[in-house]
Amino acid sequence: MDRKRVTIPQLMEWKKKQHKISALTAYDYTFARLLDESGIDLILVGDSAGMVSMGHENTLPVTMDEMIFHTRCVRRGVHKALLVGDMPFMSYHVSEADTIQNAGRFIQEGGAEAVKMEGGSRILDKIRAVVQAGISVMGHVGLTPQSVHQFGGYRVQGKNYLDARQIKKDALDLQKAGVFALVLEGIPMELAAEITAELEIPTIGIGAGPHCDGQILVTQDMLGMNLDFAPKFVKKYSEVGAAIRSAVLNYNEEVQSGAFPDEAHSYHMKKEKLRSVGNDSR
Ligand code: KIV
Repeated sequence: MDRKRVTIPQLMEWKKKQHKISALTAYDYTFARLLDESGIDLILVGDSAGMVSMGHENTLPVTMDEMIFHTRCVRRGVHKALLVGDMPFMSYHVSEADTIQNAGRFIQEGGAEAVKMEGGSRILDKIRAVVQAGISVMGHVGLTPQSVHQFGGYRVQGKNYLDARQIKKDALDLQKAGVFALVLEGIPMELAAEITAELEIPTIGIGAGPHCDGQILVTQDMLGMNLDFAPKFVKKYSEVGAAIRSAVLNYNEEVQSGAFPDEAHSYHMKKEKLRSVGNDSR
């Protein structure tokens, strides 16, 4: 069956019908195309690009220009999934005017259909401003990686009653501010279930258990490409990292030994041309 483009109203509809939403991250054209052709509903150009593609220790150094570059690359490979761009650290923290301008760049220059912003009650004014400017916003609460230093590391949030109550309040406030979906990251599954049941908008979980309306993972993590990263919430659906290493090792050996390129991977000239090259080179 021909798949239709995924839209924001459709995500809302899917929540009502309890149809689960599948989401993954992408940072370049090749991955975006593979994910889109495989039927993923939502593709996030996450600021996790900072760690996965750029090799930073965390997401904090990622800039607006870098995110726009990655979003443009991904856009060219996405034809059906909903494309969301992740607003990087300090791109929505200074003023409402800056926030709207930066969110607008994701839509106008990056070709995204929506933006994602991390944080709860303290960024409500910024979220309202972007929504009022006509740009769709996805919220993100719980373990918000841009607050890694405030959290003192990547720790599960909302494990005690007061923290859990604050996260739930943030979720409800964000819905009221107009977000169309909410990422719940690194929180206990019981809390995620309660928030999901109370919200009218879909929740997309990452390390938040099975009761969310959808799930998201960093693509390179679920493919087993990040060899030294294996947290509990990541299920590895493949061992692509090991496959790449083995293929490259094999290639390296064959280049060294002269086994590659062989006859099957080389071209021949036509016989008469061979003769003329011989003449010309004299
Ligand atoms: O940056 C990112 O990739 C994210 C998701 C994993 C939710 O925020």
